Parts: sequence; structure tokens; C-alpha cells
Amino acid sequence: MQTQSLRRLLAASVALGVVGASMVVQAGDMAADGQDAFDENCSVCHSVIAGKVKVGPPLAGVVGRPAASVAGYPYSEAMKSSGVTWTPETLEAYLAGPMRMIPGIKMSFPGEPDAQVRLALVEYLKTVK
Ligand code: HEC
Repeated sequence: MQTQSLRRLLAASVALGVVGASMVVQAGDMAADGQDAFDENCSVCHSVIAGKVKVGPPLAGVVGRPAASVAGYPYSEAMKSSGVTWTPETLEAYLAGPMRMIPGIKMSFPGEPDAQVRLALVEYLKTVK
């Protein structure tokens, strides 16, 4: 009886381990897809290297920081007063329609209509520190 429940417990934790590992692989794949999407849609205006300003502010370390916090970058008043903190959730919403979420900003990007691509972009942004 006892060995049987122990076995079941073992089987369950092995199964969990497999699920966990495949989730990590999935996030890795998504980040790679996100990087492709970033190179295509964002890299004209954004670098992911801290301090490297293009038309837009650098996005290194963007996940977790308040909007408009790269020192010296000339943000719009709208971005400065948005009160947004960039979390995976706010980024996802922002990328769906930047000017819809924060009217008056100066990022001329209409938005990414594909939710999968938005999620992949966010996975990628998590990896740029
Ligand atoms: C045509 C140029 C352009 C493109 C393309 C563009 N951006 Fe931007 N982005 C900007 C500018 C300019 C700002 C600053 C907006 C402001 O201050 O109003 C900005 C701001 C941002 C911010 C807020 C940064 C901060 O420090 O608060 C994020 C996040 C962002 N962009 C992500 C992206 C992503 C991801 C893409 C691609 C899907 C993208 N942008 C495409 C020009 C662009």
C-alpha cells in the first residue's frame, strides 16, 4: 500500500518534471519567435542595448520598469504622465494598440494584431536585460 502510493507520487512528480521542462522549451521557442518579430517590427526604432537610443528609447530591461524611465530620452508628455509600469500584461496590451492604450504618445506603430506574436514579443523582451 505504502509503496504503491510512493510509486504514484514518483510518477506524478516525473510527469510534472516533463511538463515543466517542455514549458521552459516553449518559452525559449517563443522568445526566439519574438526576436524575429522584434527584428522585423521594432528594431528600426529600438535597440535592446542599454543606453543605445534610436528613434525610440532602448528596451533593455524594459520588463519591470516604469514607463518613460530611460534617463535623457525625450519622451512625450503622454508617456511621462501615463503612470504605466511595464509588466508582461501591460506590454501585451500596449503592443495591441500603443496609441489606443496611451493616447498622445509619439510611437508610430499601429499595433500588432496577432496575440501569439504579442506574447512572443513579450517573451523576448523578458530576455533583454
Ligand atoms: C516608428 C518607430 C517605432 C517603432 C516601429 C516601434 N516603436 Fe516603440 N517607441 C517609439 C517611440 C518614439 C517611443 C517613445 C514614445 C513616447 O515617448 O511617446 C516608443 C516607446 C516604446 C515603449 C515604452 C518604453 C519606455 O521606456 O517607457 C515600448 C515598451 C516600446 N516602444 C516597444 C516597442 C515594440 C515592442 C515595438 C515593436 C512591436 C515598437 N516599440 C515599435 C518608436 C517606435
